[in-house]
Amino acid sequence: MRDRYARNITYLRLSVTDLCSLRCRYCMPEEGVPKRDRGDICSVEELTDMARAAVDCGVRKIRLTGGEPLVRQGILDICRRIAAIPALEELCLTTNGTALPQLAGPLREAGVDRLNVSLDTLRPDRYAYMTRTGRLEDVFQGLNAAAEAGFTGIKLNVVLMKAFNEDEIPDFLDLAFRYLVEVRFIELMPIGEGRNARFLPAQAVLDAGPDLRPIESSGVARRYRAPGGRGTVGLIEPMSHRFCGGCDRIRVTADGKLKPCLHSDQEISLRGLHGEALRQAIQEGVAAKPERHHMNETGRSQAGRNMHQIGG
Ligand code: GTP
Ligand code: 5AD
Ligand code: SF4
Repeated sequence: MRDRYARNITYLRLSVTDLCSLRCRYCMPEEGVPKRDRGDICSVEELTDMARAAVDCGVRKIRLTGGEPLVRQGILDICRRIAAIPALEELCLTTNGTALPQLAGPLREAGVDRLNVSLDTLRPDRYAYMTRTGRLEDVFQGLNAAAEAGFTGIKLNVVLMKAFNEDEIPDFLDLAFRYLVEVRFIELMPIGEGRNARFLPAQAVLDAGPDLRPIESSGVARRYRAPGGRGTVGLIEPMSHRFCGGCDRIRVTADGKLKPCLHSDQEISLRGLHGEALRQAIQEGVAAKPERHHMNETGRSQAGRNMHQIGG
């Protein structure tokens, strides 16, 4: 699927729930979000239909997101069904990692190819503070469980925040040096609760790691490696570095709205559509994809939703 700007759309981010087991300060309100009626959220069958239709239209990679995808009832069933779509090349999942001790093995068996895990700090007290409810130990155990289950190419997502984890950049760089992981530093986006935390430009990572050498970029990330290091470093810089020209993705929210762009309030409802009508709606979404976001100029996202309702 080509959009109006000749971008080839091959990647779908499919949110399976807007609920989460954590309450990260930059993402979720403290009181959490009201659990919706079951009918407001797409059923396993609807999600599978949407995934299949997207693949029919040319999507080759699907990432399950949330909220936290692992709190969704039936998540393993969803993974199994989507993984079985013949033309799909990669099924990925982005998680906070706390349920991986129990679920890493079953996810692997259900056909998930790759995991990205959110981890903004390596200090237990800071983790408890930022997530309001989480235990860092669970994520470490989850990462071990993922490795034991045979997952490779794990990426750690670190949202950069001034006065929170700025002083941990060297520790994260050290992690990327010693282990076979990609540590990706993400610039905080002014969306929802994200407007309450303090922005730190990704340049801070390059300043802290003068030995980092650029390697081939991937998706929205510029990538680096330190000579002799096992892992790699990625920078996702929606605020300071424009990457929209290479955007290859669309999103579907857990309530079945196709979002052509993360930072636009444009939404196309896919619910109740089947077969050709569903494929057409997806193609309409791609045709409606804006050229780029305008957060840099306006200082805020136009997403019209909180991050946990889109899935990043
Ligand atoms: P890979 O398949 O491993 O390349 O993963 P990914 O970067 O596509 O997915 P992930 O869920 O790990 O996203 C990491 C971060 O990048 C999240 O904070 C997302 O919100 C952010 N992100 C992903 N896609 C976009 C995008 O199109 N625009 C912007 N501004 N941010 C994005
Ligand atoms: N800015 C940048 N990244 C964010 N995430 C959630 N909210 C924001 C925000 N405002 C990240 C999570 C996770 C990914 C899916 O999105 O930390 O890594
Ligand atoms: Fe694409 Fe929108 Fe992301 Fe820019 S912000 S890269 S246009 S989805």
